[in-house]
Amino acid sequence: MTEKSYPKVTVVGAGNVGANAALLLLLKDLANVALVDVVPGVAEGKALDIMHMRSNERFGPRICGSEDYAITAGSDIVVVTAGVPRKPGMTREDLLSVNSGIVRSVLDAALPASPDAIYVFVTNPLDVMVNLAFSLAGLPANRLFGMGGVLDTARFIYAIAQETGAEPGDIQAMVIGAHGEAMLPLPRLATVAGRPLPEVVDAAAIQRIVEATVQGGAAVVNLLKTGSAFYAPASSIARMVAEILSPSGQTLSVCARLAGQYGIEGTHICVPVRLGKAGVEEIVELPLNPDELAALQASAAAIKSQL
Ligand code: APR
Repeated sequence: MTEKSYPKVTVVGAGNVGANAALLLLLKDLANVALVDVVPGVAEGKALDIMHMRSNERFGPRICGSEDYAITAGSDIVVVTAGVPRKPGMTREDLLSVNSGIVRSVLDAALPASPDAIYVFVTNPLDVMVNLAFSLAGLPANRLFGMGGVLDTARFIYAIAQETGAEPGDIQAMVIGAHGEAMLPLPRLATVAGRPLPEVVDAAAIQRIVEATVQGGAAVVNLLKTGSAFYAPASSIARMVAEILSPSGQTLSVCARLAGQYGIEGTHICVPVRLGKAGVEEIVELPLNPDELAALQASAAAIKSQL
């Protein structure tokens, strides 16, 4: 029997988010994975551990790991999860400068090996990292974007499901804007089984839903004590990769570069996007009301002021 051929996805950073994203890409039969980490042995060890699952799980794709980017050559997609979390005593500026250096070094190594790939950034602080990566990489805007809105949207839909008892599959909703506390959940445009959310629950419930969405990441951090969320972030990466490789036509909230849409120019921020083989195929303009539009534009201005 001839082996099925798979696209190739590089995942940089074999930590909690990267390793779980890699695992999902295999379990979902999406892509062969090259896993890279700066710490010798970590990526190779996790790749070997995952390959040991193969006789149980019978997935088709393969994974290899290394600290050497030679294994990444010719990737279709490169997902960057490399970074350090904020440690006690570290200011936001310290974190920015450490993770900026990491993004820089990852691009220096990954770009020559995969010049035609689509680059998906995950490292936090997401909005700033994606904008920095864009200014360094010299790639067209359709081929460099970030994962943030898919995760925030997943948390929003979970919160709506918790409040209404509906199944997540019956809920349409989206979070746009910055990936952080300034995110913009859109309850007015959300629907539950086709009905507008504001007709299904009262204003206090909407308030609770928005609060649970915005505080979703912090709630996980508070429970874990060390480290931050990784299962839902990994799943959000896999969702985006799946959409790029086999577009369903659905829109996802993606940290993409705007060129005048929503009255915003020259910055990456989460907006509804149709992904596909070219990466960002279309930026969808939602019918925002003046307050929502002003909040999105304020979010974009806040991101720009940090660059
Ligand atoms: N090149 C490759 N890998 C690197 C580099 C680098 N220059 N610098 C750090 N790493 C690796 C670390 O060795 C570690 O294995 O990145 C990995 C990060 O893993 P974790 O510390 O477990 O962090 P994780 O929870 O996976 O989060 C990764 O995603 O959601 C964001 O905020 C999160 O920015 C963080 C990133």
